[in-house]
Amino acid sequence: MNFEGRDIISAVDFSKEDILQIMQVTADMEKVCRAVHVSSLLSDKLVAVIFWEPSTRTRLSFESAIHRLGAKPLTVADPKSSSAAKGETLVDMAKTVEGYVDCIVLRQSRIGGAKEVAEAVDIPVINGGDGAGQHPTQSLLDLYTIQKEVGTLEGLKVAIVGDLKYARPVHSLCYALSHFSPEYVFCAPDALQLSEEIEADMKKRSIKFYKTDRMDEALQADVFYMTRIQRERFEDPSEYDRLKGTYVLSLEHINRAKKGIVILHPMPRVDEISVDVDTYPKSAYFRQAHNGVFLRMALLALIFGRA
Ligand code: CP
Repeated sequence: MNFEGRDIISAVDFSKEDILQIMQVTADMEKVCRAVHVSSLLSDKLVAVIFWEPSTRTRLSFESAIHRLGAKPLTVADPKSSSAAKGETLVDMAKTVEGYVDCIVLRQSRIGGAKEVAEAVDIPVINGGDGAGQHPTQSLLDLYTIQKEVGTLEGLKVAIVGDLKYARPVHSLCYALSHFSPEYVFCAPDALQLSEEIEADMKKRSIKFYKTDRMDEALQADVFYMTRIQRERFEDPSEYDRLKGTYVLSLEHINRAKKGIVILHPMPRVDEISVDVDTYPKSAYFRQAHNGVFLRMALLALIFGRA
């Protein structure tokens, strides 16, 4: 698959071959990320990093990837410091910025906002998260982490726990991992279960899954993917107060989980994984965050035709 000039908007857009190619280039980038020849690979490129929602991992790992490849970031990390604060639309902003850079990485709160921008400009756009929509680069680094931690992507039982309704990494992961014949355990309170749209897609593709609200059932998976219940996505604060703290994974749970279970979390965590779980060797969430640099280096190199 030729990635040159391609937008990265939704995990729905990736074929299995796309994903395998990205995994291979990511593994290559992990090996050579500090090599001298890599540090000038994109030295003629400028990348706008526009984040209108808070971020630590996605923004900084993109910036790290950009610097490691010799490109330069132009960053807006606070919408109040840009003309968004004066009422400029996302599309007007992007049509302006496309004259300054070679690629836009964008995080903002409106589902579909990144797609709208990609359709309005001629340079590649990478969706760094569009509200409760998609987070495609997160799902790719999740797959890379699973491959490294488990040794395969094929035929795994994967439990996804917490907020399946609003968590965009979950939406992207469901689409991306479904190329590899998984069995899913979707563990959430009823109010935060998976959308009908994604459930229908799973059924259409004959993906095995079942839904539960009991975390104990999720502990018998190969991979346990915890998510945060996100205060910022609730219109009604009392509903957040009702649901927060529904699941808290502790070392005591790990002791009765499937042997070798891999613990992932897109992060940030609040209290849904207690810090004692960090001592479990297969708690991979910090390694997962670190893999974001290699994955984003790979994507940028592919998009610019230099992989
Ligand atoms: N996983 C993730 O998107 O983290 P940030 O919100 O810190 O970027």
